[in-house]
Amino acid sequence: MATPPIIDSFRRAGQGHVFAFFDQLTAPEQERLLAEAAEIDLAEIERLVNSLVRPGASAGVDLSDLAPAPYEARPEFGGDAAAWAKAKTAGEAALRAGRVAAFTVAGGQGTRLGYDGPKGTFGVTPLKKKSLFQVFAEKLRAAGVRYGRPLHWFIMTSHQNHAATESFFVENRFFGLDRACVHFFRQGRMPAVDFSGKILLESRCSIAMSPDGHGGSLRALDRSGALDLMQREGIDALSYFQVDNPLVRFIDPAFIGWHLLRGSEMSSKMIPKAYAEEKVGHFCTQRGRNVVVEYSDLPLAMQRETDPATGKLRYLAGSVAIHVLDREFIRRMASGGAGSLPFHRADKKIPTVDAAGAPVKPEKPNGVKFEMFVFDALPFSKNPVIIEALRREDFSPVKNAEGVDSPKTCREDLLRQYAKWATDQGAALAVDGTGLPAAEFEVSPIFGYDDDSFADAWHRLAAKPAIAAGLYLE
Ligand code: UD1
Repeated sequence: MATPPIIDSFRRAGQGHVFAFFDQLTAPEQERLLAEAAEIDLAEIERLVNSLVRPGASAGVDLSDLAPAPYEARPEFGGDAAAWAKAKTAGEAALRAGRVAAFTVAGGQGTRLGYDGPKGTFGVTPLKKKSLFQVFAEKLRAAGVRYGRPLHWFIMTSHQNHAATESFFVENRFFGLDRACVHFFRQGRMPAVDFSGKILLESRCSIAMSPDGHGGSLRALDRSGALDLMQREGIDALSYFQVDNPLVRFIDPAFIGWHLLRGSEMSSKMIPKAYAEEKVGHFCTQRGRNVVVEYSDLPLAMQRETDPATGKLRYLAGSVAIHVLDREFIRRMASGGAGSLPFHRADKKIPTVDAAGAPVKPEKPNGVKFEMFVFDALPFSKNPVIIEALRREDFSPVKNAEGVDSPKTCREDLLRQYAKWATDQGAALAVDGTGLPAAEFEVSPIFGYDDDSFADAWHRLAAKPAIAAGLYLE
């Protein structure tokens, strides 16, 4: 049989070892390997190896001319109350007009949590142990009722978790959502390479491929037809959030309003960092553009720097990975028309095979994965706006099995959120100094998913229930 042309191109690129076992494979195995190889842009890999992997390659993060990024402070912290009120009105109008859709990036591997399954299927609420996906689905359902329009929801998965994610929704009857409004699509993949730039095999018949980072969502939204669907439906604002954060207020009229009124192509929420070394990205400016610098890239001295006038952290604005993106901006980024997202290097332990084809489970990092980050689109966006958000209303991710950002801290933050909504309405309940209620209770997003919707639902109740352990408001 003649050598398939793709094998020749791999050989010419110095990656012929990918096919080292090709002649020993069954026909379906050969097909699988060829299909994976066809996903790879060899010129792109060569570029990345030269710029990020070869000895002497720079880590790629430019820290010159950084300064803290300005943001719109909330009215209670000195911001312009009239501008916030105007933004909220504009956002509500956009929601009623059906201009907004939700977008969850759920393609990550969730290794830190040690949970076997798509992270969105992980149970988080105090009493009902509702999964992250159920919490988001119910918020969306409730917002659809509130604004008189069902909202579309895009969910980006990876090759690893796509089928399991879809089945979870099917088994749970889409949590009451119209399934025609829920759209799943897979993100792209990139091959891992060893430290000399050779593409790693995962087995004799497959390449070590991994998701291309949440920045891959921009290309994937385009490729999947999501942008065309949005255009047909008259949707121009996409509310972006991560799968790990059940507190997220992703249907937030004020945020949407700021985005639209400013003609912003990419808007972001910041929260003041809780402490200097908090593991979040930092909103900065660099030569007139907004950028996010990851905690791992910002030197500790800068993370800890304080403003002499206020005593506050200088790099205070933490990124909670909540954005609103303009549809046509995504399209331009996806086509490379507005610029292209850089890849970042992550050194990992990557299961592979040795020269004889026997499996190898490395004990220390043996290679590099390439990932794009969505926040790297910020410097390409026109009129980007950053608004301040409240941690208790927007952010408590589940990342680790224990300690900070764990199921326990998230459950407690959900309880604090319910307690705040209820006490704001005059309900009597005991809370400790951190706002944590003594009674474990739960508020279904269908009852209330933010302070406004909770207040309205509470007001409508003819008899107000006593807040006690086991109460489920739905
Ligand atoms: C991320 C941000 C950080 C931010 C923090 C807030 C990065 C590099 N950093 O950190 O700036 O302050 O969240 O919680 O993102 N995902 C995909 N596909 C992928 C990789 C990830 O969809 O290929 C999704 C995950 O499913 C998850 C989200 O992206 O929803 C975040 O991924 P993760 O790797 O957990 O980010 P963090 O390092 O926690």
